[in-house]
Amino acid sequence: MHRLSLDYLESYDAGEFPEDISARYGVPREEIVNLNSNENPYPLPKSVLRAIEEEARLASRYPNPSYAELKRRLGDYTGLGAENIAVASGAGELLSLICTLFLEPLDRVVIPLPTYTMYAFLAMLRDASIAYVEPPGEELYPPVEEIAGASRDAKLVFLCSPNNPTGRALEEDEVLEVVEGTRAAVVVDEAYYEFRGRSVAGGVEEYENLIVVRSFSKFFGLAGLRVGYALANARIASLLEKIRNPFCISRIAERAAVAALGELEYYTGVREKILRERERLLGELRRIPGLRPYPSEANFLLVKLLGITAGELMEGLYRRGIIVRNVSGLPGLRGDHVRITVGTPEENSRLISALEELLG
Ligand SMILES: Cc1ncc(COP(=O)(O)O)c(C=O)c1O
Repeated sequence: MHRLSLDYLESYDAGEFPEDISARYGVPREEIVNLNSNENPYPLPKSVLRAIEEEARLASRYPNPSYAELKRRLGDYTGLGAENIAVASGAGELLSLICTLFLEPLDRVVIPLPTYTMYAFLAMLRDASIAYVEPPGEELYPPVEEIAGASRDAKLVFLCSPNNPTGRALEEDEVLEVVEGTRAAVVVDEAYYEFRGRSVAGGVEEYENLIVVRSFSKFFGLAGLRVGYALANARIASLLEKIRNPFCISRIAERAAVAALGELEYYTGVREKILRERERLLGELRRIPGLRPYPSEANFLLVKLLGITAGELMEGLYRRGIIVRNVSGLPGLRGDHVRITVGTPEENSRLISALEELLG
């Protein structure tokens, strides 16, 4: 018999995908604007595409499970040693490995709200006891003293900076207040780190309980290939390396990630375009009646809906071939909200016109 508690676990909701909206609403696939999953809307650099093509010829062979080249390049990128790095098939897989490494049934896991829903999902898979810390009133995150207080007797704490779905980031001294006040492992999910440019990863050698998790899915545009990594003290990094699936990253994904790390200038240019568009989108959304967008340090914007329900808005956007994420009902968020990924200028302009039609 399987674990019956899993019957009560809700599946992760990844939002809508372009092919499904295309089929349901009769909008041609190539006309769909996908602002659902915080992906990078720009093309991959040519060298990354070439690396993928070349490595595809070796697809009949296993990858080398040491992933030494990827770790060496990540060492250059992060300024840390290979012994401080663990790799896996996406940040999501690292979050899961961290839960496997630390959590026994009923261990206390602290999750400040609102945040990425996978933390609670993965903690539930380990039968942990979750302590949510809710924001007061209209705030988007609880005060750090409250998080630190709740974390004192915890086993694991999940911070997300910049936070999904709010786009707010924690300052280094705020993260350290939590880290220094507990023996729990404190995970700082920096999946969106590059859009902010400031990290707490420099602290992983000094603080044994600090683990930074990062992704190749957002800034580097490799969401479809699945690569992520954790930065931690050597003991934790080596344990994560020990318990991961030996071949968790495909040959193609590893080669693509290595090639991407060789194209930082290209990606920095792309980031500038995304940040410029984020600010334009924020300004435009502020002008549309019934929308209250919040400033963000990531590649997406959280928008509170005042003049329309999320259901009505989503339906209107789907009919026009535009996908955003409905995050209404997310624990810790009061009222209807959507999360909008910053797209290309053309995509954002299509979204703005659609919103003006629906709300103007
Ligand atoms: C905060 C956060 N962490 C982790 C992930 C998962 O990233 P990956 O694609 O590397 O598994 C996401 C993806 O949306 C995210 O928003």
